[in-house]
Amino acid sequence: MKKIVVAITGSIAAYKSAHLVRLFKKSGCDVRIVMTQSAKEFITPMTMQALSGNAVVDNILDPAHEMGMGHIELSRWADAIVIAPCSANMLAKLANGIADDLVSAMCLASPKKMHIAPSMNRFMWDNPMAQANVQKLLASNLYLMIDPGSGEQACGEVGQGRMAEPEAIHDRVLADLMPKHLPLLGKKIVITGGPTREAIDPVRYISNHSSGKMACSLADAFAEQGADVTLVLGPCEAKPKLPMNIVSVESAQNMLDAVLVNIDNATVFLGAAAVADYRVANIADEKMKKTDDQDGLTLSFVKNPDVLATVAALPKKPFVVGFAAETQNVIEYAIKKLNAKKLDLICANDVSQGKVFGQDENSIVIIDTNNEKIELPRSTKQDQAKKIVNLVINKLGLEK
Ligand code: C5P
Repeated sequence: MKKIVVAITGSIAAYKSAHLVRLFKKSGCDVRIVMTQSAKEFITPMTMQALSGNAVVDNILDPAHEMGMGHIELSRWADAIVIAPCSANMLAKLANGIADDLVSAMCLASPKKMHIAPSMNRFMWDNPMAQANVQKLLASNLYLMIDPGSGEQACGEVGQGRMAEPEAIHDRVLADLMPKHLPLLGKKIVITGGPTREAIDPVRYISNHSSGKMACSLADAFAEQGADVTLVLGPCEAKPKLPMNIVSVESAQNMLDAVLVNIDNATVFLGAAAVADYRVANIADEKMKKTDDQDGLTLSFVKNPDVLATVAALPKKPFVVGFAAETQNVIEYAIKKLNAKKLDLICANDVSQGKVFGQDENSIVIIDTNNEKIELPRSTKQDQAKKIVNLVINKLGLEK
């Protein structure tokens, strides 16, 4: 029987914790509840006691509890600790090692990885302080984040910040407790992501709107399956969540060089970068000056190397996956690219009307060499990445 501590903090999503506890109980878990004082403003300890079948622990200074299930005992007892909902305040406390209530003290005393299901208003979630706390918690390697979803919030706002659904939290916590078979353990995967920057002169460049989010989601999804991932990333804000080898590059030529240095013995190469097709023919050594007698300016371009096609043409080529971002005739152009570049799979996406670049969601059609199409309906880039990785695992015959 799995022993789960559900820690509830002060957020309106606390009402969903009741359902979460029921799901754990239905799965045969022994559940103990820890609540902060503010959590009790949202849901009563009586409710949680009735659902869990155990007394609720809510006070770090309660001598009776400290004699039995105090903060140290709880962290020792648990197979898994899940903080759901985790408020912005608790996120900040955990990120800074504060231990002034039972939940934060129990977490500080836990040597095991803990799950956090944040829940807060979307502006709070987007606030750089909250995001810095999330990054700090992930970097500590002590916490696993069950990202909040997007949609309508109890406060009336629409955006990211609402707690993940209890079913998703339940499944994730129990899945993480299972002994793992990682199909890509020991396999090397190289991914390109983000835009490239092609210099015009020392201060100017040409680039595109790629955010690198899809590549980072793919890199994480491969790493989750045990792969040894190298991410060759153009200049962008996005970063993967899991530890991996990140090679930062600027131009298409830099990207190709970095890929070729890392490609030996790779099982999979995935080109998700938006590589500039052309670069400026003669990059000026000095900043180009505006002149009074010239109203226009003409730049000459030369073709960049195609990173994806170069890898697909290697004598010991890995399994090669490309992306086709198109604004029209999406499938037709994608199939042409699959054949012309000799790819094993292509992920086609419609980037018209700002549907993809910089967004958190995407919809993709994956096409293989038999022209078979798999449609992935619109969902988060993380979700799409997992599906693409599962398909690659399947194509390589590496599934469980
Ligand atoms: O030909 P197009 O640029 O549309 O092809 C897109 C696919 O090719 C993407 O997977 C992209 O990462 C890759 N590509 C590349 N090097 C280039 C151009 C595109 O790797 N110079």
